[in-house]
Amino acid sequence: MKLVVVGTGYVGLVSGACLADVGHTVICVDVDALKIEKLKSGVIPIFEPGLEEVVQRGVESGRFLFTTNLKEAMEGAQVILIAVGTPSTEDGSVNMAYVESAARDIGRAMTEYTVVIDKSTVPVGTTEWVHSIIRHETSCDFDVVSVPEFLREGHAIQDFMKPHRIVIGTHSTKAINILLEVFSAFQCPKVIMDERSAELTKYAANSFLAMKIGFINEIASLCERLGADVDQVAKGIGLDPRIGADFLRAGLGWGGSCFPKDVRALKNLGDGLGVSLPIINASLDMNTMSRQRVVDRLVSLFDGTIEGKKIAVLGIAFKPNTDDTRESAAIALMQILKEKGADVYAYDPIAEFHSAYHGFDVKIGESPYHIAQDAHAIILATEWHEFTDLDLTRIKQFMADDVMVDARNFFDPVRVKEAGFRYLRVGNK
Ligand code: UDX
Repeated sequence: MKLVVVGTGYVGLVSGACLADVGHTVICVDVDALKIEKLKSGVIPIFEPGLEEVVQRGVESGRFLFTTNLKEAMEGAQVILIAVGTPSTEDGSVNMAYVESAARDIGRAMTEYTVVIDKSTVPVGTTEWVHSIIRHETSCDFDVVSVPEFLREGHAIQDFMKPHRIVIGTHSTKAINILLEVFSAFQCPKVIMDERSAELTKYAANSFLAMKIGFINEIASLCERLGADVDQVAKGIGLDPRIGADFLRAGLGWGGSCFPKDVRALKNLGDGLGVSLPIINASLDMNTMSRQRVVDRLVSLFDGTIEGKKIAVLGIAFKPNTDDTRESAAIALMQILKEKGADVYAYDPIAEFHSAYHGFDVKIGESPYHIAQDAHAIILATEWHEFTDLDLTRIKQFMADDVMVDARNFFDPVRVKEAGFRYLRVGNK
């Protein structure tokens, strides 16, 4: 089938490349001519393991194409995906300007029955709103369907190719039949529901996972007082299939481009509707507290102050295998350290830190060993695989003091202690 994807950001590019890989002809459209030129010559603007290969395969097969011309792209295409950005505005609401202009352009370019899929994470009610915008521009028959995406950064190809479910939100039988054909290559439950339920499913899924992490961090704070170990408790509860073992890693809490935005959006939705959402509100509070607690424990090891202490932070990205630093817990942690007067150094295998953007200064080192030089404490903030092989004894020798805070419970405690550190783990006394 011929498909069009509007927007070549993260979701658009991954969805387009994967749909081409399963045999569809996919044309990606973007208003950014430079980006389209680069994509045509094989330059991928984002870091995502495996994406380059899938894009290349699609381009070589002639089934994955790029253009800035929406009208031409839509000729003969029965399905079009909107995958443009929906950034958060300063007050926490969602900026819908890109969705609005994509909908208008699609309406103007439409010449025959089309299924318009909304892939961007959008407020509940957007499907109807997009429908009214397109209706204003065309007299053609069409349907707008909500198909939320559940891709994790760093695992997006695998998540797209082997989804746990595909949610299809529409009342139209015609659209359902076409989309079942579009997604026929994916062996998973296709859950058909109304538009609003589909839109809310995305927020509910992310908020549930965020809540799960918040819950285990709450248990971690109890463990620290009681002398219990949160990793063991997580294992003990996670083996019950009603609970599940995933997303029970205690640490600095969640960050990234989705959880913070989506949990806040749900909070705003509740506030706006006058619906009380205590669990959502508590998840947000718990996330902030998780970072603060790590710093408080560090400060207590230095007799109540870290002013003037050199602190080396391993990891800047919001999680491993990505260069994304949006709402990174590592950066939130560094900000608190700075506010306490510490001299903060950081290292990340690929993510960058921009002082002007974040509004505070951090010195970036070339390697973990480099930032450990004369440090009073070292904090593991992002669990990059490459930190597994660090020579902890060597790191300790470079340092001015002996504190290691493992804010992701990543290192083998025996190795850390053998290296001679005073060692703090999350949820462990
Ligand atoms: C998430 C959802 O998983 C995905 O389905 C959705 O579509 C987009 O948002 P992503 O933001 O890429 O994906 O990252 P994810 O791997 O889910 O991790 C989110 C955050 O939670 C990270 O900051 C991670 O460090 C943290 N996390 C995750 C924990 O602190 N503990 C855990 O047990 C799991």
